[in-house]
Amino acid sequence: MFSVGASPNTAARTSVSSLKKTKQNSRVKSGSRRNVVQTFAKKTPDGPRVCIAGVTGAVGQEFLRVLKQRDFPYSEMKMLASSRSAGKEVEFDGETYTTEELTETSFDNMDIALFSAGGSISKKFGPIAVEKGCYVVDNSSAFRMTEGVPLVIPEVNPEAMADMKIGSGKGGIIANPNCSTIIALMATTAIQRKVGIERMVVSTYQAASGAGAQAMAELEQQTRELVNDGEVKTKEIFPWGYAFNLFSHNAPMMDNGYNEEEMKMVKETKKIWNTDDISICATCIRVPVMRAHAESINLTLKNDLSEEEARKIISEFPGVSLIDDRANNRFPMPSDASDQDDCFVGRIRRDISQKGNKGLELFVCGDQIRKGAAQNAVQVAELLL
Ligand SMILES: NC(=O)c1ccc[n+]([C@@H]2O[C@H](COP(=O)([O-])OP(=O)(O)OC[C@H]3O[C@@H](n4cnc5c(N)ncnc54)[C@H](OP(=O)(O)O)[C@@H]3O)[C@@H](O)[C@H]2O)c1
Repeated sequence: MFSVGASPNTAARTSVSSLKKTKQNSRVKSGSRRNVVQTFAKKTPDGPRVCIAGVTGAVGQEFLRVLKQRDFPYSEMKMLASSRSAGKEVEFDGETYTTEELTETSFDNMDIALFSAGGSISKKFGPIAVEKGCYVVDNSSAFRMTEGVPLVIPEVNPEAMADMKIGSGKGGIIANPNCSTIIALMATTAIQRKVGIERMVVSTYQAASGAGAQAMAELEQQTRELVNDGEVKTKEIFPWGYAFNLFSHNAPMMDNGYNEEEMKMVKETKKIWNTDDISICATCIRVPVMRAHAESINLTLKNDLSEEEARKIISEFPGVSLIDDRANNRFPMPSDASDQDDCFVGRIRRDISQKGNKGLELFVCGDQIRKGAAQNAVQVAELLL
């Protein structure tokens, strides 16, 4: 069976869990290794019928783990991928499923379709699923900026999909935001709400897993080649060496000199926060980390906010934990965030290049396969129940 994994750093994990605070969120409880939704049963006759389009991929595999860990209720489960994977066995919740080729009939009698098979597949099959009365939660960028399609981070703007419920007799598409955008907004929404943000400058350090299962395999292979043979031989996913290197994000370049990943941060943030009254720019970089993105964020605020108040409101935001230990020079690392539900924020400090208390710097790490993709999508699906 296909498997995607990252080894958690036990030492870091211990230190992080000791820093965790109890969240004021009735849907989740903190304090254990991860947040767990307490209210749902799993396989149940009146649960929704769920299918996963792209189950063999990096995000698809994470869907399975998140659905199980969150005890998502379901009555039927269907595993879908390309014809290449048809017949492959997938284990879920103690049962073995056979992967089916995704076709137009895949969505007959389904209630929820979790899509992570790429933009062109979403564009083709998303509307077909909706026609059949299915709710589609889509991880691709295909519908994110489409008018009428909610772009949702459940902790930030659940109201955008308030009228979408299973049993309403109709289907619909809800888009999952870009992974870097989700992680940035988990760290900054509390500040936007409290004092308003005038300008946001983001620099990302993005992991291989953000580019899918094959990119992870290539980074691992290249690392082996460099260590054993002193040179990179395999270059199938990226045209240059990735191991012990970093490069500008592989998303297509645009005429304005930004790449598509950077422009997603700009456009999606405005849609999610429902405002044009903010200036945003981003530089997105791929780094040779296997899993979990990191982002440095510089803010210009509309009103004064002290470091202490910023730290307090960020730490109280659901799904966010602080690692901000100046005495020990201990701040968020991808290994802290890897395989975790929360996003980790630290290095919260006044920007000394800006006047008064209107400039703020912070650093955030989040697992982009989890909160940046599968976990966020399953949280969205929970809002449909
Ligand atoms: N990785 C991340 O962190 C992340 C974060 C946010 C959003 N996303 C988005 O999620 C989507 C999937 O990303 P990923 O990283 O999981 O990619 P991936 O590891 O490359 O997996 C792609 C999946 O799509 C399936 N697929 C490809 N062509 C298909 C077809 N013609 N019909 C049906 N299924 C097909 C693949 O099936 P086979 O195995 O049969 O080829 C596989 O299950 C992309 O749109 C990506 O932009 C990814």
